[in-house]
Amino acid sequence: MSEQAPTALASDLRQDATGIPVLSGKGVTKVFESGGKKNVAVDHVDFEFRQGELVSIVGESGSGKTTLVKMLLGLTAISEGDIYYMGTKRDISTRGKKKEYWKGIQAIFQDPFSSYNIFHKIDAVLLDCLNMRGLGKLPKEKKLELITEACSFVNLKYAELTNKYPFELSGGQQQRLMIARIFLLKPRILLADEPTSMIDACSRATILDMLLNLRNETGMMIIFVTHDIGLAYYISDAIYIMERGKFVEHGKADQVILTPTADYTKRLVNDVPKIHQPWDFSVNFGK
Ligand SMILES: Nc1ncnc2c1ncn2[C@@H]1O[C@H](COP(=O)(O)OP(=O)(O)OP(=O)(O)O)[C@@H](O)[C@H]1O
Ligand SMILES: [Mg+2]
Repeated sequence: MSEQAPTALASDLRQDATGIPVLSGKGVTKVFESGGKKNVAVDHVDFEFRQGELVSIVGESGSGKTTLVKMLLGLTAISEGDIYYMGTKRDISTRGKKKEYWKGIQAIFQDPFSSYNIFHKIDAVLLDCLNMRGLGKLPKEKKLELITEACSFVNLKYAELTNKYPFELSGGQQQRLMIARIFLLKPRILLADEPTSMIDACSRATILDMLLNLRNETGMMIIFVTHDIGLAYYISDAIYIMERGKFVEHGKADQVILTPTADYTKRLVNDVPKIHQPWDFSVNFGK
């Protein structure tokens, strides 16, 4: 795989939402309170994400995307509403239950440093993924085989990584290592929250390309969070549009983008020049 333009980004890779629901929510709400003031960051959202789907959550800065992601991960408490995982109400009330939940749901952030403990050598980082999956007792050779496979999935050579720390790698290699971790962890659901911060076009394209390959090879459900409705259109099966804490519209990507009903979606779509034409990464990737 190159660090150039993505190869797998195409609307013809879209999946039908026929998989079983893996994560859903009813009336999910987050209210932050400070100095006696209430801020409803996420306001009674309903959603249903299905196995193998790639769903984008699109909204402007401050619309509540990251807050929702943190609630989905179980990092932020829910003020109201319920989340269902694999059809049953999620229970992460104890540390043990939370750890079990995290076997099924993982997140990546585009800052690779937030994805792993940089003070652990790469070998330990990767071995830890196998331990988390309950594969700690596998013979050493088998573990090495799985780790080597994960590295080659992201075009890294394990032999060149062994005995190094993540910070000794280039930025692009660190990002690929982050995807190798997910390849080893094989969660059922992957959350990818794209921050506003600048990331160069090539790295961004590489990450997207690898996320799509991951979905196509493992059937992982991916929730991709972005400001960029044009990008969401080209990679997603389904899109949820978020405005001031609410989902104002959702549906199949074609339906939401080609026949938007909410004024907010129409505005977002109108802000993207030539959304219906083939995506040109060389000009559209900047922010
Ligand atoms: N820990 C917190 N305490 C208080 N308010 C918070 C906290 N985290 C987020 N908020 C508020 O919740 C609202 C939604 O923020 P959030 O980070 O979810 O938005 P976002 O859609 O992810 O934005 P961006 O695209 O800029 O990342 C904002 O008004 C924000 O100020
Ligand atoms: Mg955010």
